[in-house]
Amino acid sequence: MKRIRLNKSKNRKLINRINQINGWLDEKEALKLYEIARSLPPEAVIVEIGSYEGKSTVWLGKALRKNRTGKLYSVDHHIGSPEKGESEATVNTWEKFRQNINKFGLEETVTAIKKDSSWAVIDFDKRIDLLFIDGNHEFEEVDRDWRLWTKKLSENAWVVLHDATVLPGPWLVAKREVLLSSSFRRVGMKGSIIFGRLERKQGSFKKLFTRVINYLKYLYIISYVRMRKINWARNLKILTLNFFHDLKKR
Ligand SMILES: C[S@@+](CC[C@H](N)C(=O)[O-])C[C@H]1O[C@@H](n2cnc3c(N)ncnc32)[C@H](O)[C@@H]1O
Repeated sequence: MKRIRLNKSKNRKLINRINQINGWLDEKEALKLYEIARSLPPEAVIVEIGSYEGKSTVWLGKALRKNRTGKLYSVDHHIGSPEKGESEATVNTWEKFRQNINKFGLEETVTAIKKDSSWAVIDFDKRIDLLFIDGNHEFEEVDRDWRLWTKKLSENAWVVLHDATVLPGPWLVAKREVLLSSSFRRVGMKGSIIFGRLERKQGSFKKLFTRVINYLKYLYIISYVRMRKINWARNLKILTLNFFHDLKKR
């Protein structure tokens, strides 16, 4: 996998322009997201859950434009997040989102799916090479997005969860599904994002090795996260369940 980073000094103007879009993605998270998207194969499919006014959308779209191929499907009902007390009556990010996509010339790269993520997944019939989860951050919602959308991942797909080191919902899902699992390799953290690359086809020894490496990374990551308390008994339970799940799948 090639690592293609954006040259910050050469692209300062572009970075500053994208930074002006409202949103929560900070610059180092955005650059990591961009780097992952730049490493994707030709004709890659990206799904983003939660686009708000389009900050992460523009970063991902720009990466695909540089790759010269690929499509980004951006899922958001554009009526805000109920966990923040937002609703149809108070929030409408659709117009701003569309303006930003047009402003950055991404109309052909980005397909907006203006639906609830749990509805959007029903008709989605493509294999996903990068899944970026940044919708509703309540545990049940992140968990549901994970269960529904990861069924559509391609082999070697990337998953990225935003706010995973700062909010309990995404953290619990990232911890259980990525850090305490053996299915993801190249696991890491940048700012509040936790990411990993799916690798389903691993022999038993490699799986065990991956699990150990991921657990060491987990111990490193937890020293940065706000939810610092390590629940050893729960971790052991998840690790054991995941281990038997792997055995059953063999
Ligand atoms: C944190 S914002 C996304 C920020 C965006 N990724 C960025 O970089 O600026 C979360 C977004 O998820 C959307 N959202 C929340 N729950 C959703 C759901 N069930 N289905 C679709 N979108 C949802 C909200 O409308 C909101 O725009």
